[in-house]
Amino acid sequence: MDQAHVTYTEANLTQAVLGRIRPDADPRMAEIMAALIRHTHDFVREVRLTPEEWGQGVAFLTELGKWCDDKRQEVILLSDVLGVTMLVDAIAHAGDGNVTETTVLGPFHRENPPVLPDGADIAPGMAGERLEVVARIADAEGNPLPDAQVDVWHASPEGYYDSQIGDGEAHSMRARLRSGADGMVRFTTIAPASYPVPHDGPAGRMLAAMGRGPMRPAHLHFWIRREGYRDLVTHVFAAGDRYLEEDAVFGVKASLVADFEAARRRGETPDLRLEYEFRLPRAAAA
Ligand code: BEZ
Ligand code: FE
Repeated sequence: MDQAHVTYTEANLTQAVLGRIRPDADPRMAEIMAALIRHTHDFVREVRLTPEEWGQGVAFLTELGKWCDDKRQEVILLSDVLGVTMLVDAIAHAGDGNVTETTVLGPFHRENPPVLPDGADIAPGMAGERLEVVARIADAEGNPLPDAQVDVWHASPEGYYDSQIGDGEAHSMRARLRSGADGMVRFTTIAPASYPVPHDGPAGRMLAAMGRGPMRPAHLHFWIRREGYRDLVTHVFAAGDRYLEEDAVFGVKASLVADFEAARRRGETPDLRLEYEFRLPRAAAA
């Protein structure tokens, strides 16, 4: 006897794939996979994706994976330049209230930076315009937070992180400091410059194909950790940088832009100075 077989078509295929998600699958997993299937199928239908273009997409994703190693994360870079990282961040921090805004971590944080005392020079011997940093770590109400761990890292005046200079082994322009009893952290360094995200791989090719540039405006990264509070991963950007409006990874927020030249204009110092208060949200009760 003949058996009736289903024929999958453009009209019924999406529903058929959705229908294979088992009712006993983990509910969050089922929700994510159903949305992924719907949006991917809609995307293919909307652009009328050809088999050749599908093949190019497969080759692109394969190449992304091949570029990844312990020094290079091309998949996160793709997420960054497509604005996905900042969208996830915006959703995660939507209800944060009166605390410092967050931005991307980026690929240049190192887990074991030099541990330096308050007032340290974190870029000794390096040529560049001196930058004095005076940071205050506080809770959402502005009360000082002593004993916070503050990781800071930034690029050189030529736009390179220490890991991109020479054999990449030396640590410079980065440190781990601790806030004092008054919540203050002070250090000196050299002023960073704007620089391109790594753009010699497939993510860079995609940027170029869209007519976009790879530049990020000058910034210092901060990762601040304090018991009882949520980690704060953020940057402070230099006001006046020409790339503030076209950051390749969409990481700029108005509240994170600071005027490094204000103290010099007031005649208080010959150097640049960054003064910034970081406010951390309290950790959710366990
Ligand atoms: C950075 O700021 O270091 C960075 C962030 C995202 C992608 C590439 C670099
Ligand atoms: Fe950076």
